[in-house]
Amino acid sequence: MVKKIIVCLVAVVMFICTEHSIAQGTGDTPDIPAGESPPIPKTDAEKKILDVLEDIYRNQRQGMMNVPPVDGRLLRLLTETTNARHVVEIGTSNGYSGIWICLGLLNRDSKLTTYEIDAGRAALARDNFKRAGVGHMVTLVEGDAHDEVTKLKGPIDILFLDADKSGYLDYLNKLFPLVRPGGLIVAHNMVYPPPDPRYIKAITTNPRLETIFLNMHAAGIAVTLKKR
Ligand SMILES: C[S@@+](CC[C@H](N)C(=O)[O-])C[C@H]1O[C@@H](n2cnc3c(N)ncnc32)[C@H](O)[C@@H]1O
Repeated sequence: MVKKIIVCLVAVVMFICTEHSIAQGTGDTPDIPAGESPPIPKTDAEKKILDVLEDIYRNQRQGMMNVPPVDGRLLRLLTETTNARHVVEIGTSNGYSGIWICLGLLNRDSKLTTYEIDAGRAALARDNFKRAGVGHMVTLVEGDAHDEVTKLKGPIDILFLDADKSGYLDYLNKLFPLVRPGGLIVAHNMVYPPPDPRYIKAITTNPRLETIFLNMHAAGIAVTLKKR
């Protein structure tokens, strides 16, 4: 009986670990779905950025809770196709997703404002932004974003939420007025860790918003349009 229970427990732990590594990326395999090719740099500036992203992915991922590359590529596409000039990110970590966003902001008069509470991760991010050549585009605010965002001025083209999951609703309430009509609110981890149901309700029941869920085979992303 005890043996059976142990076997069951091991099976459950293995299942959870597998799900977790699918959601967050394992750190040693490129997280690119079959049929997709890796991004191809068009310019030297793009190559420099993609090289740093690859280096972070290979060597710095442990404990950084970075988005998987497939979500980074989505952030870049959303940023570039909406012609965003000001992106706000809550949860910088070591700057991995922020650098993907900067790739979408290149060659325009545009900026990323990003918030991080942990001093060690903020220092790593500063270094990564610098070596990717995007430091001049980024304002990194160190501190508790729940307080710091109240000092922010709009308009925001894209708001990217990727910090404390129970804080998403507070960030939405505080920053929604600054998001421009036609702007996007993008929220990470719609699969794992489980999202706050209050946030899901807020973005799916408001007639002023249109929300779709993407990349749900990975960590999951909610893309919400603030209608014009
Ligand atoms: C999931 S990680 C962000 C990963 C990052 N977006 C990326 O993909 O590279 C979440 C980060 O949010 C930070 N964080 C958590 N609560 C915060 C808060 N109240 N204010 C600012 N940052 C916070 C954590 O320290 C952590 O580095």
